[in-house]
Amino acid sequence: MQTITIGSHTFEKTAALAPMAGVADASYRLLAKEHGAVLLVSEMISAKGLCYDSKGSAELCRITETERPMALQLFGSEPEFIARAAAMVQEYNPDFIDLNMGCPVPKVVNTGAGSALMKTPDLAAECVRAAVKESSVPVTVKMRIGWDADHINAAEFAKAMETAGAAAITVHGRTKTQLYSGNADWSQIAAVKRAVSVPVIGNGDICSAQDAAAMYAQTGCDLVAVGRATYGNPWIFKEIDSYFKGIPYTPPTPEERMEMMLRHIRMIVEGSKKPPEIAIREARKHASWYMTGHFGAAAFRARCYNLSSYEEAERLAEDFLEVNKE
Ligand SMILES: Cc1cc2nc3c(=O)[nH]c(=O)nc-3n(C[C@H](O)[C@H](O)[C@H](O)COP(=O)(O)O)c2cc1C
Repeated sequence: MQTITIGSHTFEKTAALAPMAGVADASYRLLAKEHGAVLLVSEMISAKGLCYDSKGSAELCRITETERPMALQLFGSEPEFIARAAAMVQEYNPDFIDLNMGCPVPKVVNTGAGSALMKTPDLAAECVRAAVKESSVPVTVKMRIGWDADHINAAEFAKAMETAGAAAITVHGRTKTQLYSGNADWSQIAAVKRAVSVPVIGNGDICSAQDAAAMYAQTGCDLVAVGRATYGNPWIFKEIDSYFKGIPYTPPTPEERMEMMLRHIRMIVEGSKKPPEIAIREARKHASWYMTGHFGAAAFRARCYNLSSYEEAERLAEDFLEVNKE
């Protein structure tokens, strides 16, 4: 099995979980890890929020030992805050600090952070240098391919981040203005790979083991990261792992899907500090994703969005299996 090394960690060249705010929380990451994700990343954490003692931001920094190796991802556009936040998160012992230079959300971009940093490469490089100075672990960068179709600067930008001290670079093959529409442009990931000598993690539109293999082949990237295709589907990591190891892979049965859905809901509810009837709301979207592609999924999805107790989820699973008998 081929491997890559970032800092002191060596990874099999299978697949990492892409960071997803509001989705890839600790329960989600643990399931991904259990199914073979080789690297996990936290939800994005506001550098300024951490510096101003935001409880929510600090909560996002928690790492359980089973999640390792794991990166904590910071966002911000002011090197002073990035530096302070990088110093503050050391107490959580992250394996990496990742800097978000790809988020397209207006609230983030309007402060000059996330993908807006791709328009200000000098400031972005300063942020990297600030983090590197304060961090005892490698600092990595996650970027897009540019701001819009007329401003694609993936290769130069990545090179500048490498020069500033980035130890690896993840590239989501879309521009900021594309958001999540259209196809990811993998040729730009290949361009980044040619431009830098640090490991490149390719990302965007991997929905199967075949897609992962195609991404490796077309871009020469060192690792791939999977985002949305993991919704209700932690098995995708097993699928990718099996593919590269030549092990036969059998997709989950409807029974296995429902067992995993219920386990995922229990993990969310038990891991939450909120009362169960509130915590279950966090589980609704995840529950609906486990139904995707199955008979009656649309109707079940509506029921998922009204889930108010674990017992209701159990009944939902029973009904789902009833209409999805082999
Ligand atoms: C709901 C959601 C939340 C996301 N949150 C983050 C984030 O916090 N940090 C980040 O760098 N990227 C974030 N992303 C982008 C993903 O990491 C990834 O780059 C993107 O979804 C493309 O990969 P995919 O086609 O495999 O989904 C998010 C994406 C989604 C859909």
